[in-house]
Amino acid sequence: MEKLKIIGGSRLEGSIECSGSKNAALPILAASILSDRTITFDNLPYLQDITTMFELLGSMGVDIVLDESMKFSVDSSNLNNFEARYELVKTMRASILVLGALLGRYGQAKIALPGGCAIGTRPVNFHLTALEQMGAEIELDGGYIVAKAKKLSGADITFGGVTVTGTENLIMAAVLADGKTVLRNAAREPEVVDLANFLNSIGAKIEGAGTDEIRITGVAELKGGDCFIPSDRIEAGTYLAAATLTKGCITINKVDPNRLENILSKLRLCGADIKTTNESVSIEMNSDINPVDIQTQPFPGFPTDMQAQFTVINALSKGSSVITENVFENRFMHVQELVRMGCNISIQGKNAFIQGVKAITGAQVMATDLRASACLILAGLCAEGETIVDRIYHIDRGYERIEEKLSYLGANIVRLPR
Ligand code: UD1
Repeated sequence: MEKLKIIGGSRLEGSIECSGSKNAALPILAASILSDRTITFDNLPYLQDITTMFELLGSMGVDIVLDESMKFSVDSSNLNNFEARYELVKTMRASILVLGALLGRYGQAKIALPGGCAIGTRPVNFHLTALEQMGAEIELDGGYIVAKAKKLSGADITFGGVTVTGTENLIMAAVLADGKTVLRNAAREPEVVDLANFLNSIGAKIEGAGTDEIRITGVAELKGGDCFIPSDRIEAGTYLAAATLTKGCITINKVDPNRLENILSKLRLCGADIKTTNESVSIEMNSDINPVDIQTQPFPGFPTDMQAQFTVINALSKGSSVITENVFENRFMHVQELVRMGCNISIQGKNAFIQGVKAITGAQVMATDLRASACLILAGLCAEGETIVDRIYHIDRGYERIEEKLSYLGANIVRLPR
């Protein structure tokens, strides 16, 4: 298995470009099967999860072409298989995103039921109940969700809890359904807005994305078109965290700072000096880190996908802090590894109590999930000596060329071959 070797202590300086957003790209790729015309994608991030989504679409009969300008085109006019196999779903839970689109356009889907994962049980009951309200018949058979519907009908749906991919699945299911659908208690994440914008650009009628009430009027068919994938706010936030920890001075280009406001406000409280333009964020950190309490919440609250990174920031701050994880029940797997590097953190239920320390030391550590891997790399960047991060296939799911971007900023980081 590949590993990352990091020698800590370098101050990050310079500029990098933000990649396209994984969590925007995945639902938009899934949504492309709602149209039988060609959709062309620009700014897709080069990530394992995107490859897995292409593998899934390809296994369903979708034609995927990469042109000379590195743009992917997706043509689902020959789609003839309605199944997402367990082998794919177990490597990427977001495979569930094809459920709504398959049911909406083809009236059938067989999707392996995602199991639990390192950050919690992660059920999909809200997706399934809502699809049943639209007229889908759903059975669980041999570990698969088997769903059928002659034609989905619009419905007035209130989600039992805020779910990002659940909201996205139901938007996709409703776009070609008969009549109007209202989604209440919908997720407000920017990536939900990106999906709605894309679908509207090819002929859908979706209003209210970005609020907790989304209204969709079914249309007969969708057109083809182009889609530019917006910037990844979590990737950008992770590099800003790295700059804060190394007392660095970096600029991230090709990023929309409005998407990052809940992260930038916390970094400012930590003591970072942050400047933004329409499409860049610059950060300079010259002081010791102030601790900041964090409560993760659905958007516009603080994102759970930045919790692990802020655990490291607080662990190296000049005081005590509490991080409360409200979205996932088991998202502190990184803490034990951070403790092995010298951090002072104790977990009680959904709270991490953190007492900042002056310095930590490099160690061999193991990544358990995507954002946990990012946090271990951040810890390695500011630790004394050498850190080896194992199981980095998690990081390749969600960060494009992370060691290249960090090296470019002056970090001492290399990928060790298997
Ligand atoms: C998405 C993101 C992930 C992010 C998460 C929360 C993608 C591809 N992934 O994941 O990066 O960490 O949002 O911002 O966009 N829940 C249920 N029943 C359901 C659905 C969810 O109980 O049917 C619970 C989950 O277990 C979790 C909470 O609701 O505790 C939020 O989960 P959800 O928003 O669905 O996360 P994902 O969409 O899987």
